[in-house]
Amino acid sequence: MNNIALFLGQAIRRPSQISAVVPSSRRLARAMAGSLGPDTGPVAELGAGTGNITREILAQGVAPADLTLFELNPVFCHRLAAQFPGVRIENRPAQDMAAIGVENLGAIVSSLPLLSMPAGLQHAILRACLAALAPQGQIIQFTYGPRPPLDPQVQHDLGLAVHRGPQVLLNMPPARVYSYTRR
Ligand SMILES: C[S@@+](CC[C@H](N)C(=O)[O-])C[C@H]1O[C@@H](n2cnc3c(N)ncnc32)[C@H](O)[C@@H]1O
Repeated sequence: MNNIALFLGQAIRRPSQISAVVPSSRRLARAMAGSLGPDTGPVAELGAGTGNITREILAQGVAPADLTLFELNPVFCHRLAAQFPGVRIENRPAQDMAAIGVENLGAIVSSLPLLSMPAGLQHAILRACLAALAPQGQIIQFTYGPRPPLDPQVQHDLGLAVHRGPQVLLNMPPARVYSYTRR
């Protein structure tokens, strides 16, 4: 089964967890990974799905050994393992990141459906991200809606600055990339 069919099948079974019907387009994946490179250091991808963004992260020169994927769905994890040898794949919630010793990340690339999560869960995920992020690291996240992808109160409470990135029309639906850094 190809990745699109696999993604759609899982999206029908777990709509609230996946929050999309098709994987991200190549254009969106490139916009998400475009600021990364061989010197970024360790990178974590949250909600890797069937790996469209993973592929672009590696294409930017991030070494497989520097990349850790967090993905809740075991079917997706199986597909990711087959496609990306040498990449660490964690079939567990992204919020476990710091607890399992992931640290000093130069970037966190997330396609988690943050805005459809309760603020408490957003807080928990972002707190884990900040515990694992290097001081100058960035969190990159896309959203389909007109507003930034983090609840403003969560952003304020955690002392984050938001940067508006490119809009990608060639995606289903169109999306915009944002990044967050410590203020
Ligand atoms: C919108 S899909 C994005 C998939 C892929 N990155 C892409 O862009 O095509 C969101 C993914 O996040 C995963 N997910 C949702 N909540 C999660 C969590 N707390 N920790 C890890 N993965 C999660 C879902 O299983 C799903 O694969």
